[in-house]
Amino acid sequence: MQLVDGMQIVSDIQSLRELRREWQTGKQAIAFVPTMGNLHNGHLKLVKEAKKHASKVVVSIFVNPLQFGPDEDLDAYPRTMEQDKASLAELGVDVLFMPKVEDIYSRGLEQQTFVEVPGLSYMICGASRPGHFRGVATIVCKLFNMVQPNMAFFGEKDFQQLQVIKAMVTDLSMNLTIHGVPTEREADGLAMSSRNNYLNEEQREIAPGLYQLISNMAVEIKSGRRDFSIMIQEYRLRLASIGFKPDYIDIRSASSLLQPSHEDKELVILGAGFLGKTRIIDNIQVEI
Ligand code: PAF
Repeated sequence: MQLVDGMQIVSDIQSLRELRREWQTGKQAIAFVPTMGNLHNGHLKLVKEAKKHASKVVVSIFVNPLQFGPDEDLDAYPRTMEQDKASLAELGVDVLFMPKVEDIYSRGLEQQTFVEVPGLSYMICGASRPGHFRGVATIVCKLFNMVQPNMAFFGEKDFQQLQVIKAMVTDLSMNLTIHGVPTEREADGLAMSSRNNYLNEEQREIAPGLYQLISNMAVEIKSGRRDFSIMIQEYRLRLASIGFKPDYIDIRSASSLLQPSHEDKELVILGAGFLGKTRIIDNIQVEI
């Protein structure tokens, strides 16, 4: 660090951040939990984690049109505002931010500047949902700019989303920490998700099968199985045989989401499939 006529000159990001932090002395750490509402225990767990790390917690509820494809469920997406407000107030959230679409996208969706994380956004879920992660990165970046949190919390259930956001924060040198929080599950293992509300009784019975299958894969990998491409084909068929229309089953490096190399010790098994029109996703991390 250099001092020139009272002006501090720094050349590395870490020093800049340290200075910035000193200037903030006396201010409170702010944690942020962005959501699309219809809150379940998975969201509430994010809020509880946020409260452990910061003195002020901001939660947003915004059903983001930019991350839904033309044939997806934007209009049908469950909205339970009153219930959500009550749950958040009970947890002691400091601010609930509920912006309007026209305020967020004031120049219209067509004109909107966007943030795109290349590579990571096009694979796995991104291959099935073109433009989805561009919509997620754009809204999360905008919300970060609005809330200016010191840290933000996301569920590991949306594992790829978490990696996209971490990459965006790194690539754009954003000054906050991203925390991933383990998936909250129903008693039968089904990952909690707002979209579970769409399932009928029969589909709800089938739904935990995805988690059971990827858990089996994890056990096999832990026991030494390494023929990943055969495994993927096999488990895709098994997903179909229990009643899903498979989207994908995949095994990736947990850090890069690329095909695992022999050196990769931390893997993630990801799966997605349809029950009727409802898309269920899940993942499990495996250390080998
Ligand atoms: O995970 C979600 O609910 C959304 O993708 C998010 C991160 C709130 C962005 O709209």
